[in-house]
Amino acid sequence: MFKIAVLISGGGTNLQYIIDSINRNYLNCSIECVISDRKDAYGLERAKNNDIDTHYIDRKYTEKSVSDRILEIIDGKVDLIVLAGFLSILEGEILRKFKNKIINIHPSLIPSFCGKGMYGIKVHEKAIEYGVKVSGCTVHFVDEGTDTGPIIIQKAVPVYSYDTAEKLQARVLEEEHNILVEAIKYISEGKIEIIGRKVKISSICN
Ligand code: GRF
Repeated sequence: MFKIAVLISGGGTNLQYIIDSINRNYLNCSIECVISDRKDAYGLERAKNNDIDTHYIDRKYTEKSVSDRILEIIDGKVDLIVLAGFLSILEGEILRKFKNKIINIHPSLIPSFCGKGMYGIKVHEKAIEYGVKVSGCTVHFVDEGTDTGPIIIQKAVPVYSYDTAEKLQARVLEEEHNILVEAIKYISEGKIEIIGRKVKISSICN
């Protein structure tokens, strides 16, 4: 069974969609644990409601030791780490031990509106402010940078002149759920090949 750990900081709708996709046998995976860097993240409730082990790691540690504590919990136990709205930046040994085995969902079409400090509603405010006609979401491998790893899947959504950041966020979030599960599915089925910065998915030409 392909085993994953899901890291969260917030409401956990992406986590919920992964749970639902496993329960309807779309994903042949198991979630070994959910780890949050925020004690009040509702995603922890979602995990508990589905009998999934949860861990809370207090962010008052430096980011390096948060990463080291996460590594202690999951090392040798999972095949993939999924960042689903996880706001701390992973650093150090975990990036080496889990090279090309950590993925992140970002609510824009990288390389637009990403990088340090670009998360949550701020991403959509910047997109609206810039006047883009399309935005969207990206699943990418996590490397030493912030939102800089090889791109696995992207999905575009239209941006309308009357959109508020909240309206755009909701439209993008719907697609995040879809592409994050697709990325997990491709990886769990061994359909991903990384060639430099490029990611080839064997079941589709892209
Ligand atoms: C999503 O917008 C995701 O792109 C961003 O954080 C949010 C997480 O939402 N990284 P949820 O906690 O999965 O509902």
